[in-house]
This record gives sequence, structure tokens and C-alpha cells, in this order.
Amino acid sequence: MAAKDIFDLRFDRSHADLWPMLEKLYGGHPAYDEFCQALTAEMRAAWKSRPADLKELDLKRDLEPDWFQRPDMLGYVFYVDRFAGDLNGVHEHLDYLENLGVTYVHLMPCLKPRPGDSDGGYSVMDYRMVNPDYGTMGDLTRLAKALRTRGMSLCIDMVLNHTAKEHAWARKAAQGDPAHQDYYLMFDSDHLPKQYEQTLVEIFPDNAPGSFTHYPDIGKWVWTTFNEHQWDLNWANPQVFLEIAKIMLFLANKGVDVLRLDAVAFMWKRMGTRCQSEPEVHQILRALRAVTRIVAASVLHLEEAIVGPAEMLTYFGRGEHDGREGNLAYHNNLMVQYWSALAARDTRLMTHVLKTHFPVHLTNATYATYIRCHDDIGWAITDEDAGAIGVTGAGHRNFLSDFYEGSFPGSFSRGALFQFNEVTGDKRISGTFASLAGLEQAKDKGDPVEISNAVQRMLLGNALIASFGGVPLIYMGDEIAMTNDYGYMRKPEQAHDSRWLHRPHMDWDAALAPEADSPEKDVLTGTRWIYQRRKDVPALHGGHPTQIIDPPSNAIFAFSRLAPTGPLVCLFNFAEQWQEITVEWMRDQGIVQFYDLLSDAPVTSDNGTYKLPPYGAVWLT
Ligand code: GLC
Repeated sequence: MAAKDIFDLRFDRSHADLWPMLEKLYGGHPAYDEFCQALTAEMRAAWKSRPADLKELDLKRDLEPDWFQRPDMLGYVFYVDRFAGDLNGVHEHLDYLENLGVTYVHLMPCLKPRPGDSDGGYSVMDYRMVNPDYGTMGDLTRLAKALRTRGMSLCIDMVLNHTAKEHAWARKAAQGDPAHQDYYLMFDSDHLPKQYEQTLVEIFPDNAPGSFTHYPDIGKWVWTTFNEHQWDLNWANPQVFLEIAKIMLFLANKGVDVLRLDAVAFMWKRMGTRCQSEPEVHQILRALRAVTRIVAASVLHLEEAIVGPAEMLTYFGRGEHDGREGNLAYHNNLMVQYWSALAARDTRLMTHVLKTHFPVHLTNATYATYIRCHDDIGWAITDEDAGAIGVTGAGHRNFLSDFYEGSFPGSFSRGALFQFNEVTGDKRISGTFASLAGLEQAKDKGDPVEISNAVQRMLLGNALIASFGGVPLIYMGDEIAMTNDYGYMRKPEQAHDSRWLHRPHMDWDAALAPEADSPEKDVLTGTRWIYQRRKDVPALHGGHPTQIIDPPSNAIFAFSRLAPTGPLVCLFNFAEQWQEITVEWMRDQGIVQFYDLLSDAPVTSDNGTYKLPPYGAVWLT
């Protein structure tokens, strides 16, 4: 079949996802028809120039649409410079990643950032150029090819909500070009900004208060949700949609497999609201998804919306958008609940939240599951959910911040506050997986029991994200239990942002030759084991439902993966104490073989009771 025919078939397939959305968003715009023609022409042009090997991959993934839901998917997330110096350096570490079982590599922001403080690269001044410190677009394409040869996909960040104020569009806007001023949200006075601010939420209250910046030289107030140097794009302008769609196709044609769409919740503004997750955001994301699905069918969209449970689900497409929006979205609620249960040694809130708000099954989509990433942890726990288990929302959120900062009496953790909002009392937390899980403090104290507990907490987290359903993501250095890096405090462009605490440089000595009997080695060996086991357990396919079940004790979190071959019951002990589970309870959950697929060994019971060790995890058939 000729390539042209395939494009047309895909064009027809995505019709309902594209044109009705664009009509709703931009139908009233005077240049709507020209916009539609231009978009169609751009898609055809991008298809024409799409390399043959990528077209073949498109076809393969069209035929195997569940490729990213399979249990052999494992992501690894890193900063290019902190991991390997530059893009060419990454090649040297591909064996290491392959040994870990990695099949998906997320390069933290790698497009050309503004000079100086660039919010860790999320302030992009050129989407068509790679960060010159990392290499060139040619290097990125070569890396994409090398990864593909090893069966690994490449994910990169695509910042949709804003550009750097140094981006060419912003420069033209600043020079007074009205067409480019319409790319951003610029106001002649503070009248409207003040009205909007009444209902907006502060994102960086500490170092970038307010959501607008006044530039006396330009004579404008500019919408800047995040930092002053990040100018929010005006998505109500179809030209912005067209420009971004072009860039996404450009990157797809360079061999990128997954586009991580950054800060998507903020893309649409509506007076009188928080300007987050407005209905138009979903129309835009569905339409963008259609654009890549037509031209580059193998590409996935990972949506980054770090919001409460009900809101988060909408990024998979709810209601009319069901199964038609993001292929992947971060399960930040699973992450938050892991930390909450660990501090409380109590899983009741975790069970309540994950059972009440999340469906057992997602259409055409799966979660990106993780325990740590480059960002802070915000306690996305609502007052209602906290109330359901008899605690107050503010009280519990405060407890978690104090606990993970390390100030709560008896806490095992060492972290730092991030963006304390004095008005709302909201405190977020920074720190590496290992430091928050207790390793840093335990090592300082030389306490072998606590060191072992910290290791087990980390393996518990990995066993959880490996089995919950979705693509588990390992954040660089967590597999070797790297602790906090305090060096950022001495760097002027980083000192204001405690998130640098958990962005250490990779310790290759520890990774390649970990000391015998060290916690680093235990975590590395244990992590490898977990993901190797995951590959061999078909029941962990992301397409199989995940049903949260009432656990046999308040320290255990439990769910059942409802595979066609029978349930796989996964249990996680969040406490330092052994937990007793009756054989009867296990039988009631459909366990017949009494075999733990995680340790790859039968489970034994004593007097009708099975004992789950401190911080133990099992996957039972
Ligand atoms: C996302 C990124 C975060 C960044 C923000 C603004 O949330 O993960 O690191 O600060 O977007 O771009």
C-alpha cells in the first residue's frame, strides 16, 4: 500500500478527534479557514518528510497498540549533563540501562533553554535546537536511533504552557509586533490581571510571587504563571496551536517516541477560575494527540498534570474524550499516597483515595507510575478524603511536610521545604528517594536496622510502581540510593530552588561497582530483581484492571490485577512490624497457588497464618 494512502486512512481515523475540537476552540476566529488549511498542509508536509524507518515503526505500533502497556516497559529519567556529560556521552551508558531492564529513556529538558536560570530547562528559547551544552539535533537523532536498536524509546519534554521570554516569538512581541503579542497574554494595564489574580493559585510563591509581570519598557503586563522568564502562551490564538503542532511533528520526525507535555493544566485561562484544567485544555490536548496520531502514529503523549485525583483522570480523557487524550499521565496520587502511608504506617487514606477516585480500567492509556522525580512533592490530598478517614486535610498535609522535612519527632526522613505558602499554609517537599526514605539519617547515625529499613522502603516503592499498572519510571540515581546533594545552595542560579537537592550528578562508581554489603548495592540488586520479575509476569500488563481491595490490616495496601488467567494479589506492608494474614483471607481474594511471583517462591503459612515481613511486598497467584 502506498504511503499516501496510509496518511489518508489515518487522517480519516482521527477526524472526530481533530476537527470538531478545533471548531469549538477556534471556529469563531476570522482566520479559521486559513488556519485549517495551513494545519492540513503542515501535516502532509511532515508526513512526506517522515523518515522511512519511523514510518515502519508507526505501522508496527498501529498493529500493536498495547506496546507501551506491556510488563517489559520500564522508564529511566535523567538530566543529560548530570548523567553523561552530553548526548554523545549517553551512548557509553546504554549497557548500564539495558542491564537495569530499561526500555524507555526520558531526557530531562534538552531543548535550547534561556541562558542562566532556566527552571531546570523548562524555559525554552528554541524548540528546534538542542541545548548546545548537550550537543546538536543530529546528536539527538543519533541517540534516538541507538536507543531504538536496543528496543528503547526516547521521551523528551515539550513545554506547552510557556516559552522563555528570550524565545524569538517573545522577542518580537516585546518589540511591539501585534501578531506576536497575540502569542502571549499581554495587558495594557493591571486591571484584568488583578481580576484574574483573585482566583489564581500561587505556583512559586517564594521566589516568583504573583502570576503576572509588569515590563515598564514594553508597557505591558505579561501572564507568567511560573517564573518571570516563562511567558504563558495564548492558546486561544489558533496560530499558537499551529506553531506548536509543527514543532511536535518536527521532533517526532527526529525520532522522539514520547512527548512529555509539560504543565498542561495551565493552558487555558478563564476569568473567575483557577485557570487550571479548563474544558478547553482537553480539547486542545485531544486535537494535538490527533495531529501526531495522523502523521507519527508511533508517538505517545505523556501529560504532566500534577493535580488532585478527580482532576488528574481527565487527562486520560473522561466522558466524550475517553481514550482519546493522553496515552500516559503521571499518577502523582499513587506517589503521594506511598509517602503518606509510609509516614503514617497506615494505608487507610491510600486505600480510600485510590479506590474512590480511580477507575479499575483506563481506555487506550496507562499511568506513568513513580515515587520520585525532579520536582517537589505537593500533598495533593483533599479535605474530604482526609475527612473520610477521620483526620483533617490541613493537619495531615502539615504532618507530611514536617515528617519529610525531618522536623517531626521520630521522623526517619531528611528533606527540605519547597515554596512555603504563608497564605494557604501549603508546604511542599524536596529530597531524594533515599534521603526521604531514611537512608541519609540512618547512615549518619550508623544504625544498621534503620539502614535496612530504608533499603526495604525503597524496594517497597519499586515493587508498588512495578505492579500497580502503567509504565514505572526510575528517577536517575534512585536505583543506587543516592542521597541529597546540598551543593546547589552555593550556586546563585539554583540556591532559591530546593528541587536541586534531589538532582544529584550520577555516581558512576556506586552504579558500576557498588561496595559489597552496602545499602547502595542492596537497592541496586533489589531494584534490578523487581523489574526483571515484572517482565515475566503477564498479569502486570497495563491493560488489565487494577482493583483496590480492603486490606487485612491497616498497615497493608492491597490490590488485585484482574488478569484473564486469574487475579494477581499484590500486598505491601508499610510498617516496621510483621503483619499476619490468614490463609482464609487469601483464599477469599482468589489466591489458589500460594505462589509469590515477586520473590519467585511459594509462600508458606503457619497455623493458617502467613506473615508479611516489615516493608515486605508480594505478588500472589
Ligand atoms: C513542570 C515541571 C517543573 C517546572 C514547571 C514549569 O511542572 O515538571 O519542573 O518548573 O513545569 O515549566
